[in-house]
Amino acid sequence: MISEWVSFMMFYLLAAVFSAFLAYCLYLRHVHQKYDHLPGPPRDNFLLGHIPSFRRAMKSKSLLHDSFLQWGEKYGPVYRMNSFHYVMIMVHCPEATKTIMMSPKYLKDPFVYKRLFNLFGKRFLGNGLITAVDHDTWYRQRRIMDPAFSSSYLRGSMGTFNEMSERLMDKLEEIAEMKTPAVMHDLVNCVTLDVICKVAFGVDLNFLMQTDSPFQNAVELCLKGMVLDIRDPFFRLFPKNWKIIQQVKDAAELLRKTGHKWIQNRKTAVENGEDVPQDILTQILRTADEEKVTNAKDDELMLDNFVTFFIAGQETTANQLSFAIMELGRHPEIYKRAKAEVDEVLGTKRDISYEDLGKFTYLSQVLKETLRLYPTAPGTNRWLHEDMVINGLRVPGGCSVAFSSYVSQRLEMFFKDPLKFDPERFDVNAPKPYYCYYPFSLGPRICLGQVFSQMEAKVVLAKLLQRFEFSLVPGQSFSIKDTGTLRPMSGVICNIKACS
Ligand code: HEM
Repeated sequence: MISEWVSFMMFYLLAAVFSAFLAYCLYLRHVHQKYDHLPGPPRDNFLLGHIPSFRRAMKSKSLLHDSFLQWGEKYGPVYRMNSFHYVMIMVHCPEATKTIMMSPKYLKDPFVYKRLFNLFGKRFLGNGLITAVDHDTWYRQRRIMDPAFSSSYLRGSMGTFNEMSERLMDKLEEIAEMKTPAVMHDLVNCVTLDVICKVAFGVDLNFLMQTDSPFQNAVELCLKGMVLDIRDPFFRLFPKNWKIIQQVKDAAELLRKTGHKWIQNRKTAVENGEDVPQDILTQILRTADEEKVTNAKDDELMLDNFVTFFIAGQETTANQLSFAIMELGRHPEIYKRAKAEVDEVLGTKRDISYEDLGKFTYLSQVLKETLRLYPTAPGTNRWLHEDMVINGLRVPGGCSVAFSSYVSQRLEMFFKDPLKFDPERFDVNAPKPYYCYYPFSLGPRICLGQVFSQMEAKVVLAKLLQRFEFSLVPGQSFSIKDTGTLRPMSGVICNIKACS
């Protein structure tokens, strides 16, 4: 009797699962029909859509963004990709880029950004500035954070930019004396970490003097975890990946614990009436005050933004610097011109002033061109809630629209001979790129740290050109590695010699 009942239940259970699966397949077919008039690469399979292609690209160590670029060249400025029932439309059409990105009406895609709330289940970027999708939640934070990025505050940070870059110069002098090659990416990475710690949080950690810092490793692991978690929905299912997943979770925990400690120290300093800088940390405390929610939530939001600034503001700039050094090393004539400009502006002066930065015209062009070929944060997504005609094609609402600066900035239709590193493209007399160049994103959600990062990059690069001659060690790769941000595969290994 019992076995009959069990068989009966099993039958109904299986029938229910089968019906649910069938219903899902029908829904999927409906989604496909809704978007299949748009061009796009053939799906790998009905259920998974293009996920196997993404996984193959990630496993083969080829750059997924290069696949997006090839598809962009083949299928045009609007093309479709599927992952289960999720539809993502790649758009590289300037008018649509302008309409969507410049309007606060099109929110960030919750499917992408809510997934960064946690990293493998551990709270990570939460509701901080990058991931807040809801307009009001985001706007309240952005408004409070703005003063920490005002020109007057940044002008006051020139001392720190100089001081931290001087540490790099000291380190490079040691390396030059020892006549050993310098891994430039590791070195500039320490500088940008030191800068963000000091300018944003008032803490001096001197990463250049540390070897194998757990904090530095944690930032790197979290970035890697972001890519694995977002791009491969099956990653967490395989036991062989559980070790790295645990390491990523521990790394996220370490970042948040550090944030907690620094926030408490600052709160104590404020309570004791100490004079505290009006830096990013002070603004983070203010955002929590304004939210006027429970204490526990206050702390979580503050930690979200603490982690956000490390993730957004450090590797992106370090990678830009490494790519710039790599390209200068590959192009002696560009190197010479940039150095001549630096020598003319600085002479033998040690400290770079805010006014000097405005005189580095050619160096700015080099940095802009670096971000054209190597946009270190290579794209953004918006949610299309309503139907829209893009480039003559009707795109039904209810899908994600992806804007890849990597693709757009490497398309021949926008940039002639796109793989050529040519700072002349950004000459003051050259035509301005029209909504096809956006390494810092565009519109209301544009990078908050754009000016900060470019001031920092100019100070580091100008000092490097002023004090040292560098050349690339032959035989290294010039490929790009995708670790959440884009960075040079080789680490940019240079022979360094102090200028006489
Ligand atoms: C070369 C360096 C940098 C590049 C290429 C870069 C690029 C970007 C991009 C593309 C976004 C949009 C992300 C998205 O929509 O998902 C963004 C947002 C952001 N970035 Fe940067 N970034 C850089 C440096 C910095 C620095 C130094 C800071 C802070 C000190 C910073 C803080 C932020 C913040 C807070 C946001 C979110 C803005 C918002 O939504 O209101 N970034 N950045």
